[in-house]
Amino acid sequence: MATVLLIFAACGREVQEIEKMSFDFAKFSTGYDPEWLSTGFDDSAWEELNLRETWDTQGYDKYDGEAVYRIRFDLPALSGSDRGPDLLIYLGKIDDADKVYVNGKYIGGNGGFKGDGGSDISFWDIDRTYAVYGNDPALNWGGSNVLAIRVNDKELEGGMYDGPVTIEACTEKDIASTNGLLGDPAKRHHIACQELPGGKIRCDATVRYYLREPAKGRITLLLKDDETGKTKKLFKSEPLELSCGSEYTTSLTLDEAGRAEIIAMFKGKVLARIVPPYILTPKAPAEPVINGPKVYGVRPGSPVIFKIPASGDKPMAYSVEGLPKGLEVNPDNGVISGSILMEGNYDVTLKASNGKGEGRKAFRFVVGDAIALTPPMGWNSWNCWGLTVTQDKVMASAKAMMDKGLTDYGWSYINIDDAWEADRRDKSGKILTNEKFPDIKGLGDWLHYNGLKMGIYSSPGDETCGHYLGSLGHEREDAETWASWGVDYLKYDWCGYGKVFNALDNKGREEYIRPYALMSKILREQKRDIVYSLCQYGMDNVWEWGAEVDAQCWRTTGDITDTWNSLKEIGFSQTVQHEYAAPGRWNDPDMLIVGKVGWGALHDSRLTPDELYTHISLWCLLSSPLLIGCDISQMDRFTFNLLSNPEVLAVNQDVLGKQAAKVWEDGDIQIWMKDVEDGKAIGVFNLGRDSRSVTIPLKELGLDEKSSVRDLWRCRELGRCAKKTFEVPSHGCFLLKLK
Ligand code: GAL
Repeated sequence: MATVLLIFAACGREVQEIEKMSFDFAKFSTGYDPEWLSTGFDDSAWEELNLRETWDTQGYDKYDGEAVYRIRFDLPALSGSDRGPDLLIYLGKIDDADKVYVNGKYIGGNGGFKGDGGSDISFWDIDRTYAVYGNDPALNWGGSNVLAIRVNDKELEGGMYDGPVTIEACTEKDIASTNGLLGDPAKRHHIACQELPGGKIRCDATVRYYLREPAKGRITLLLKDDETGKTKKLFKSEPLELSCGSEYTTSLTLDEAGRAEIIAMFKGKVLARIVPPYILTPKAPAEPVINGPKVYGVRPGSPVIFKIPASGDKPMAYSVEGLPKGLEVNPDNGVISGSILMEGNYDVTLKASNGKGEGRKAFRFVVGDAIALTPPMGWNSWNCWGLTVTQDKVMASAKAMMDKGLTDYGWSYINIDDAWEADRRDKSGKILTNEKFPDIKGLGDWLHYNGLKMGIYSSPGDETCGHYLGSLGHEREDAETWASWGVDYLKYDWCGYGKVFNALDNKGREEYIRPYALMSKILREQKRDIVYSLCQYGMDNVWEWGAEVDAQCWRTTGDITDTWNSLKEIGFSQTVQHEYAAPGRWNDPDMLIVGKVGWGALHDSRLTPDELYTHISLWCLLSSPLLIGCDISQMDRFTFNLLSNPEVLAVNQDVLGKQAAKVWEDGDIQIWMKDVEDGKAIGVFNLGRDSRSVTIPLKELGLDEKSSVRDLWRCRELGRCAKKTFEVPSHGCFLLKLK
């Protein structure tokens, strides 16, 4: 299908360059008035603030609430052209949320504003980059422009603090990595792909012509195949005369294939390119294969809840050889339940069989003090549903986790994040669920029957980050209530505790530890194992003392969002924590941003397929808890395959419990490596904009030149590593095992 449409009014000649602009200061006022966003507003009476420090250090100590920064900048006149270059605006980090305007027009934002009827959501630790297209009518070429940044500070320090702000011309690739909304994508050439029900991929390529002079030529779509290195022509249009304002769209359907790139060209010039979703994980065999970890830690007498994770045709019959006294296995769904009273190691063989064959796996129950001997794998409601989570939405993802077969690969936790709490306790002080969770105990029972586990969220402060009730002063009641509901995992989020902490004179480590140690003591008194996950964004190097407060996981960073910048900043900065990881002690760089995410307003993750492979590879190497952040009931085949590669997940679930360290860096190339039970797991990452060929520097990394290498995503032996060159795409990676 191909169409030509006429849509534009403004057409230009040549796009010209502009100089990069940099701003250390901005005009500033607390409060908010829509008038302050406009170009014409007179801000001469406003004072100037330094953009490298929060407003708290510049005369607004402890000010929480809204404020506006204004930056005036000039754009050159366009000589002989009506279209300027696209602009990339870099704002650094902003505490906590922002909405950004150019000449009064909204161009993007991060985090949430309660004042606008939303909730205060903090994105304090995330770099902001926004883009405005060069033909956006809001821009005033040849005149004065105003960039207005409206900020909402929820608590603690506030404002812009990571300056200078820069404005420069940018390319399509830069635009793809912004984390604000885009100016107006309807004004650019672009290719967008989506998965069709049968697994084929449909791509729509749209070319938009905006030059004043008409041009004659054909639009060609090329497919560059990575595996073969060959480029084939997919489509060539009839000769066209493209005139100013014409738009040309063609749609094509691709069979599922390896990594390839679609390139749209006109008169020898590349107009747009995209890598459609591509699946690397080979199809699971019909015979049973038992996946998942090799160990399960449980405390004496605590309930065991473990479903044998087996891929292959269903129905399947499950059994266990050598099952210790106190445990039983449901032969129909493979759920092992019961409890073991005596400490010790209990070695068993897990078995699963169907009409095609039998799968077996050696497995150990380790009954003792330590739990979460491998990083927890599951789902959390936050990245998809934010504060709009309901019991039905939780059930829908849990059910889809089973129906789609993610449970066959070891996914098991179903964690409810913020917004389940009622706004008031009952007379006895007991915390209650709100109307969105009519039967949380019933939910827990149903999850447990199916071999899944239930997680909950609270804060050591009086309120959570979403302003729901926290546990301050009610720690014991809350832990007991959660245990009675069957909770297996607690995410305990600092937020409201900031108020208690700020009022202290002494802000030493013991004060960071205090609220977490208090809850951990009470959790240990419950008659079930509750994985304890600290969420305080890495303050006071939490990885140095997380294990001391008996936690199994601790967030090391602020909140993640679904952009390359956020992924890169968070994932690749985990360079000092690896020494602290061990079975039952996990650094947590935040939850997965795969599939449909959106904190209440779902959209496809803005990461490209290459970036998504990087995300999962890195999180597996980092031995991070893996918590799926999307609505699983809407999960596509690409995302399912990304999360169900047994060899990749084995890197995360490896019994040694090591975390990868960055061992090599050469410009944009980084190599991360960790010991696993049967060799070394290695990630080769390309953070740059162009693809790069990489040979692994075996000698420098102390590796044997005779090592053989396996490609874990493709589940393929590649032979001697020394002879291999890896063509690593921009923002992509290879995940390897060396033996
Ligand atoms: C944040 C936390 C998020 C989410 C949110 C809930 O502080 O980092 O992961 O839990 O609070 O309000």
